[in-house]
Amino acid sequence: MSRVVSSVAALRSALGGDAPGLVPTMGALHTGHASLIQRAAAEHARTVVSIFVNPTQFSDPVDFSRYPRGLDRDLEIAAAAGADLIFAPTEDEVYATGFSTSVEVATLTERWEGAFRPGHFRGVATVVTILLSAVQPAASYFGEKDYQQLVVIRRLHRDLRLPGKVVGCATVRDADGLALSSRNARLTAEQRQHAGVLPRALFRIASLVESGEVEVGSLLTAGQAELDQAPDLSVDYLAIVDPETLESIPRVESRARVLAAVRLGAVRLIDNVEVLAPGAAGTGRAG
Ligand code: PAF
Repeated sequence: MSRVVSSVAALRSALGGDAPGLVPTMGALHTGHASLIQRAAAEHARTVVSIFVNPTQFSDPVDFSRYPRGLDRDLEIAAAAGADLIFAPTEDEVYATGFSTSVEVATLTERWEGAFRPGHFRGVATVVTILLSAVQPAASYFGEKDYQQLVVIRRLHRDLRLPGKVVGCATVRDADGLALSSRNARLTAEQRQHAGVLPRALFRIASLVESGEVEVGSLLTAGQAELDQAPDLSVDYLAIVDPETLESIPRVESRARVLAAVRLGAVRLIDNVEVLAPGAAGTGRAG
């Protein structure tokens, strides 16, 4: 079992000056988190997993109170994946009494998730700044599943010269393609069956791009047709964007990202895939 510390002082003393790999999480760990931890553990002598359900990134208090929590199971998953230190701070340890500072990443946070979850990215940027300052990692690992979050964190990390490097890791999917997420556990059996339309829509768009369709209007119509197969699903957005600025593009001429957010009952799911126009030179970001 990995050692658990709940204060920054105990964390620093346990690290003894080492710069570890860090996997920031809100708990409810699943195979997707395990893959981040495994990668961090393969690349660093020490791996810290932070577990903190961050209240400031929830715009809806009910969503915060319903967020799944289960430290014992998280500890087992983290240890099995190779974590050697768990940083599980209390709210007071993260946000000191009278806390009055927040970190705002402009523009990138205004659309997509930012438009549907006001204040969400301010909470994410603030807590990630606090965690990276506390842990001083050599590298921090984030899933591509939350693609806009990853882009926002890369910008935050660059602008504030936060320690270490940021590593984006591929999304882990269930057999039907659904991206693993702590929220999937809240789907009913029927909703879970229908949820497969979300990755199907994204991969349909990716395969049309591969076969030469570049007009975003036609691509989105084809993706929407897949989503329409699920009777109880509503779409918050389905968009094809520039992978760095997250702005909508009219045609896929090189590398782009398809972003989607849908609701099945009370459960909101997000997902994304990369698309690459045929013949476009690969400009993939390493690490
Ligand atoms: O992706 C998450 O789990 C959270 O947004 C993060 C990055 C741990 C910040 O609370």
